[in-house]
Amino acid sequence: MNSGRNSRMVGFGSFAPDQAVDNLELCNRVDTSDEWIQTRTGIKSRRIASDHQPTSELALRAAQRAIESSGLKLGEIDLVIVATITPDMAFPSTACILQHKLGLGKVACFDIEAACSGFLYALDVADAMISSGRYRNALVVGAEKMSSIMDWQDRSTCVLFGDGAGAAVLSKDGEGPELLGFFCGADGSNPSLLCQPGGGSLNPATVDTVEERKHFLKMNGREIFKSAVRVMESASRELLGRHGLNVEDVSHVIPHQANVRIVESLSQRLEIPLMKFFCNLEKFGNTSAASIPLAFDEGLRKGHFKAGEIGLLVAFGAGLTWSSTLVRF
Ligand code: ACO
Repeated sequence: MNSGRNSRMVGFGSFAPDQAVDNLELCNRVDTSDEWIQTRTGIKSRRIASDHQPTSELALRAAQRAIESSGLKLGEIDLVIVATITPDMAFPSTACILQHKLGLGKVACFDIEAACSGFLYALDVADAMISSGRYRNALVVGAEKMSSIMDWQDRSTCVLFGDGAGAAVLSKDGEGPELLGFFCGADGSNPSLLCQPGGGSLNPATVDTVEERKHFLKMNGREIFKSAVRVMESASRELLGRHGLNVEDVSHVIPHQANVRIVESLSQRLEIPLMKFFCNLEKFGNTSAASIPLAFDEGLRKGHFKAGEIGLLVAFGAGLTWSSTLVRF
């Protein structure tokens, strides 16, 4: 193993379910409008998985593409991490279910739960495990079936989210975007800002919790909006500072795809022109842990990122959590 090198993303892939639901279709379900959704969020459409597509199925399709593009054999993957807040079940982990579906060996598998920051948290953990020398090739997946925890009677949340998955294969051997550094943080002081209150040990499932709609995502959108801009700016500046880089050194920002107004505010605060931000949220909505890898994969496939350029990936999510990652293409 080449222990002197940084880890690289030697394979990448993503998957979104076929069914696209546009804003007009949502108007049949809740009291909303295409105009409201587009002006407040920038979202035009989102993909919704079928009843037969749990999160592990979305993860499977993205992972197969990532492994194929890495050129590695299944037997060479020795670690699987899935970032998700919509696991197939509370346990076992979606990573274990994915291991079996992929036909991998009996390798280490676990999930990471850091909401929309989950994929970047998982990259940090996978890189550390590879750098320890105990693992060689890690499959890192961000996958979500957000539609499974949407309250389709709550117009303030159900218009925002979508389903999808993205995956990377990390290794110190091989070529691909180089992982230069990571930064993760969290503030657990106010979990109710964004949560799914029912179904855990605090509010186990009962007829009452179901009737009270506690098994759906709840969010204070306005407060999350303000926190998101603040923590994404600080996570970006912290990581750039640690690596002696300035905002001018960044060629591309791949932000968490939650809301175009959050992206615009971040662009202003960081003084990085909006044209450097890669976004596809108008097509997919907020896919939580899948959002950054879905955007990153599209940028890679379109040849949007040139060799040697620096990319900044930055996310925030429930927790609150935040995370940033620097890559060199
Ligand atoms: N259609 C029409 N009207 C709506 C809708 C809708 N879909 N949703 C809310 N409204 C109404 C509200 O009822 C309110 O009406 P009122 O003034 O009569 O009370 C009005 O629109 C304004 O509501 P606000 O919540 O103030 O709207 P705001 O401009 O803040 O936009 C939004 C709401 C889009 C949710 C915004 O706050 C936001 O993007 N926040 C960040 C959310 C986010 O990124 N969450 C993801 C976190 S990542 C994770 O970990 C899962």
